[in-house]
Amino acid sequence: MTSAPDRYAVIGHPIEHSRSPWIHARFAQQTGERMVYSAIDAAPQDLAERVRDFFQSGGCGLNVTVPHKQAVLPLLQELSDRARIAGAVNLILRAADGRLRGDNTDGSGLVRDLTYNLGVPIAAQRLLLLGAGGAARGIIGPLLALHPAELVIANRSAARAIDLAQQFTRYGAVRGAAYAELGRQRFALIINATSAGLSSEIPPLPVEVLDAATVCYDLAYTRDTTRFVQWARERGVARSIPGAGMLVEQAAESFLLWRGIRPDTTAVLADLLALQAQ
Ligand code: ATR
Repeated sequence: MTSAPDRYAVIGHPIEHSRSPWIHARFAQQTGERMVYSAIDAAPQDLAERVRDFFQSGGCGLNVTVPHKQAVLPLLQELSDRARIAGAVNLILRAADGRLRGDNTDGSGLVRDLTYNLGVPIAAQRLLLLGAGGAARGIIGPLLALHPAELVIANRSAARAIDLAQQFTRYGAVRGAAYAELGRQRFALIINATSAGLSSEIPPLPVEVLDAATVCYDLAYTRDTTRFVQWARERGVARSIPGAGMLVEQAAESFLLWRGIRPDTTAVLADLLALQAQ
């Protein structure tokens, strides 16, 4: 008798638009791994119960997405260093003894997309990060590890940006600022980690910080072009990129940690972008 395939899922709220089941199905097909990957919609008050039920019923691993990346922390028995530094988890592994370990592949997924897929230089460059919430926190460590000349975090609430930057000064050159303080400074790369797009808004970024050589990257990825990506394109920047590659790369690293095999992301990312273009 053949055993049931290993079970994985992404848990979030809402979750119906998540591309993760599609991405992991492609990875499983490509590598021949016997597994299924579903989506679990869990309202915040149900998160603990749904995570417990998933693992008690034999589930092998979860991806964790908005809004649960921080709320899931107390449910875990172990954290990787990068998840502890990020203060957020996007991946849960169940060890053989049943202990749940949280990890975070968002930052490494972003860095791999920027450097490997897109060829965007980070070392010795000036970077601007928009937003100081959970999404921003998860990528600061991996960006600083590539030794940019400086990483400036801008936020509506400047105090929040300054506080966040202070927590990372031991990892590299980073400081917080208000949007209005950015003035005429130039940045090679601007990363949008705000949730402004959820309400169809644009962060109050002075247009003078953009020039023809600037690369803009939106952590958000939606079926339609995001407001931020569109806004930057209209202002003539060199490249304005939605976070599809980060989504695929963080998924590939989750897959590697769960299954011990790294899928080839190139074809899956191309197909995901083609789906969006339809
Ligand atoms: P997430 O986990 O998605 O980062 P969060 O922790 O609630 O969510 O943080 C949301 C981020 O988006 C914050 O940096 C927030 O700025 P404030 O701290 O000043 O509130 C930012 N944000 C949300 N809406 C925004 C908007 N319309 N313009 C600019 N920044 C916005």
